[in-house]
Amino acid sequence: MADSRPIGVFDSGLGGLTVVKALRSTLPHESIVYFGDTARVPYGNKSKELVSEFSMEIVDFLIKYDVKMIVVACNTVSAQVLDELHEHSTVPVIGVIHAGAEEAVKATNNNHIGIIGTMATISSKAYEKALSNLDKKIQTSSQACPLLVPLAEEGWLEGDVAETVVQHYVKPLNANGIDTLILGCTHYPLLKDVISRQVNKGTTLIDSADAVAGAVKKRLSAAGQMNDASAKSLLTCFITDIPLHFERVGQRFLGAPMDHVQTVHDI
Ligand code: DGL
Repeated sequence: MADSRPIGVFDSGLGGLTVVKALRSTLPHESIVYFGDTARVPYGNKSKELVSEFSMEIVDFLIKYDVKMIVVACNTVSAQVLDELHEHSTVPVIGVIHAGAEEAVKATNNNHIGIIGTMATISSKAYEKALSNLDKKIQTSSQACPLLVPLAEEGWLEGDVAETVVQHYVKPLNANGIDTLILGCTHYPLLKDVISRQVNKGTTLIDSADAVAGAVKKRLSAAGQMNDASAKSLLTCFITDIPLHFERVGQRFLGAPMDHVQTVHDI
């Protein structure tokens, strides 16, 4: 029997729409309820305690919408509090870290993988732990890139500023000899072109959004929880504040117009 319940997806803000975009292309018949905590973004420089509190509230909110699974699009949340969310949630929760790490291990030839992310993600060492659990031979080099989120939000996806900032961040990773780079943040897929120009030639970029979409498909299909192949999918978005440039930014992340958007004041 088909399972028509939606998939819940959440992020600290609009960046997680890159994961929604990947999910919609991998699972075109699944409906999605998205929650973006636009009033409290960014999470990447907040304490673990606060990130945990916000994330639990969002999980409870999504469960009320009868979701069959929750995808944590935010790398910062996935890196810091995924275990707590597993315990708290009554439906399966899947984060982006493991899926991204798996893809990276498959892609590397020289066993040296780079990771870029927010301060919180990098200092948690979650990607390093996931990579080492998958393969003890893997060496890692990581770099926090705090300026990349505002660059992506502002739409500065190319040009001198973007090239210089990205060059500054990836320089040490290039020098260390990585051959694979994990884009460990919801916003970085938007900067893929600049990043690919600035990394050493031949470096493979791992987009956690694509990786997690593949993992979600596997999980739903193994559990017999896919929706009917003729079903029409619906995307419903909840956000906690409407930023001034909401439509422009949201559409860029999603790669499509955003409809069915509701603002939630109390969660
Ligand atoms: N969504 C966050 C992440 O993937 C980036 C934005 C933030 O700092 O909240 O880490």
